[in-house]
Formats: sequence, structure tokens, C-alpha cells
Amino acid sequence: MRLIHLSDVHTWRIERRPWRLLGKTAFATVELLAGRAGRFRLDRLEPLVARIAAREPDHILVTGDLTTTAAVAEFEHARRALAPLLNDRGRVTVIPGNHDRYTWSAVRRRRFEAYFGEFSGTGPYPWTRVLAPGTVLVGLDPTRAGATARGRLPEVQLERLRKLVESLSGKNLRVIVACHYPLAAPPLWAKHLHSKRLLHADDVARALEPLGAHLYCCGHVHAPWAFAPSFPPRQLCLNPGAAVFRDPNGHRHAGFLEVELDHNDVRAVEHLCLDGSWSEVTLANVSSFFGPSPAK
Ligand SMILES: [Fe+2]
Ligand SMILES: [Fe+2]
Repeated sequence: MRLIHLSDVHTWRIERRPWRLLGKTAFATVELLAGRAGRFRLDRLEPLVARIAAREPDHILVTGDLTTTAAVAEFEHARRALAPLLNDRGRVTVIPGNHDRYTWSAVRRRRFEAYFGEFSGTGPYPWTRVLAPGTVLVGLDPTRAGATARGRLPEVQLERLRKLVESLSGKNLRVIVACHYPLAAPPLWAKHLHSKRLLHADDVARALEPLGAHLYCCGHVHAPWAFAPSFPPRQLCLNPGAAVFRDPNGHRHAGFLEVELDHNDVRAVEHLCLDGSWSEVTLANVSSFFGPSPAK
């Protein structure tokens, strides 16, 4: 199956009613939006969406931060821009990022759920969705409203995750965990993640360990990668970076990941856009990734 993974679209607009953002300092918000305006090229969304649609994916996964301040106008923009990809809700999964819970009011009004909830699994997190026979996606939500960018998976969700993992383990399934926050980052980005990390990431990693081989699809750090952390073993962590990011230093690219699952083999290809032209880079190509643990 062909999975398209994108993240951190970050629609934005200049906030004319800063009092809406009670609980955030006005300065931080103005600074945030000013930075977003320069770095997130929303005019590049249309060609990005067209390229994704042309790949004819079996499933599309969006790992959060569709917006910047969780404003209605930002959610509307994101929904409108992604519309060509949202025709079949059975083939799209969207989970929230911390920016989609930016204000208490957005959380209280369940704004993410109003605009993208139909592309989630049913019931409380963590939920599961069957993407194809033998392929299961697990959705997690450690986002929190408030001044911090650090996430925390509530204890009740962690406990449910442990039970869920127990029920999925040893069944020869291809398991894909979707969570906005990475558990760890490659060395180049570890410092970057630290200030906005997932608290108690080690507990989540321990909860996932019994799964054995699994994909962990995240976003949050605006840099594409495919890397295998030291723990849990047999995890391949995939991050597409931010979909329309323009890095002033030119180190990080905008785009998305195309993940091919062929029986037990996994191949992750980055589609990156440089000055309007696209290229493809293979980030991971692992045969026999899924399946039972290799004999020791
Ligand atoms: Fe983000
Ligand atoms: Fe984020």
C-alpha cells in the first residue's frame, strides 16, 4: 500500500484581535505569527496538494499542526486547501498538533474536532483504524492547551495504550503509530526538540516496545527524517517536516513523505520542493522490516 504522510501545514493569518488569545502573551503571539508569515509559504499548498493527489495514495496521514493559533479562519483555510485530498474519509487520517490546541477556547470548543474530527478514529485516544488488511494505525494525542509547546500523554491514555499494544502484539500486523510529537530526534535535531519535547517520552517508548517492528509517524520538528532510535528497538520514526516551510538557511525542505508498504518491506521517499521544482530522495529502504523478531 502507498501511504502519503504530511505534517505541519501551519496555516496562519495576522491576528487582529489579540484579546482572543488570552492565556498567551500578546508579544509571543505577534512574534509567532510574524515568523510564520515569512516561513510558511501558503501559496505552495496548491501544488503540494496536486502532487499528492497525483500519487493516488491508498491512505493519507496528516500528523497535526494544521494551524498556527487554532483560529477559525486558520482551520477553514486548512480545510479548504486540503479539500481535494479529503473526498474519501476512509482514506484520510488527521491527528492534532499542539498548535491546533493553541488556545483554551479552541480546546473548549473542540475546534480541531469540528474541522477534522471526521478523519480520526472513533472513541477516545488512543484509537485504531484499519488501513488495509493486516495494517493498523494507532492514533495518539499528547497535545495540551496553554503556554507550553511540550506535550504530555495523559496517564489514562498511556494505560489504554499499554493494553492496546498487548492486544496488537504477536499478530503479524503492520502497525503504524501516529503522534504529533516524536519520542526522540536524530542527533542533528535533538537540541531543537528538547525545548518542545514530549514529557515522559520514555514511558511512551516503553509502552510501544512490545509491538516489535512498527512505524512511528510524527511531525512537530520542522525537518524531514527517517531514523531508528536506540529505543524502542525496531521502531522506524518518520517525519515529513513542514509541508510548505521555507528555511531561510536552506537546510530543511518543504514537502511530504511517500511510504510504500510491500508485504514486510518499507520504503520511505521524501518529495521535496525547491524553488518550485520537485525532486525525490529515498530516506529509508528496509526489506523484511515487519514480521517477527529476528532470531537471536
Ligand atoms: Fe509545527
Ligand atoms: Fe508542533
